[in-house]
Amino acid sequence: MMLDIAMHILELLMNSIQAMAKVITVRITESEKDDLITIEESDDGKGMSKELLERVTDPFTTTRTTRKVGLGVAFMKGMTEQCGGIFDIRSTEGVGTWIKATAQRSNIDTPDMGDLGEMMMAAIQANENIDYIFEYITDTNSFVFKSSEIREQLAGVSLLEPEVLIWIKEYINQGIKQAKEDLK
Ligand SMILES: Nc1ncnc2c1ncn2[C@@H]1O[C@H](COP(=O)(O)OP(=O)(O)OP(=O)(O)O)[C@@H](O)[C@H]1O
Ligand SMILES: [Mg+2]
Repeated sequence: MMLDIAMHILELLMNSIQAMAKVITVRITESEKDDLITIEESDDGKGMSKELLERVTDPFTTTRTTRKVGLGVAFMKGMTEQCGGIFDIRSTEGVGTWIKATAQRSNIDTPDMGDLGEMMMAAIQANENIDYIFEYITDTNSFVFKSSEIREQLAGVSLLEPEVLIWIKEYINQGIKQAKEDLK
């Protein structure tokens, strides 16, 4: 199964949501200069015990009870290592979790970026009360989206309104497109 990068990150977002995070940050750096894609995803959720953290990159590690395999973290680790990158995960119980994954941008095995606007829309749909911070950074530009700012501007209108969700998706994809203009 080949997932694009946005789908891999969505798995991480879903884990953070399940961990009862209040703030989730996604930072994607796409550097032409360093030929590198860097993904950082962090949350202030319940975190993992040392013992769980050591096992989390094993495909058979899951604390879910409905299914015996948890693939999110192990899959992403496998993907990045196949693409000349590294995978690093840190977590503290009661504090939160931080994941950093890199991939060589020119590597033919590096998946497409996928639809990052759609990814954020799916996360908001899964839990609209979380404060999502999304950052997209290139060698020369950056774009930042904060769901809390949108929520304030909406003054009581739900982020789950279909028009709002579609606006968010397009706003993010447009912001990325602009930030990417200098990339080859
Ligand atoms: N951000 C996180 N915060 C706290 N615990 C986490 C986090 N990410 C993963 N975990 C723990 O690691 C386990 C494995 O995660 P993984 O995504 O690999 O599988 P899963 O979420 O259990 O199943 P699947 O992703 O296939 O639905 C989770 O069950 C959870 O206990
Ligand atoms: Mg998961």
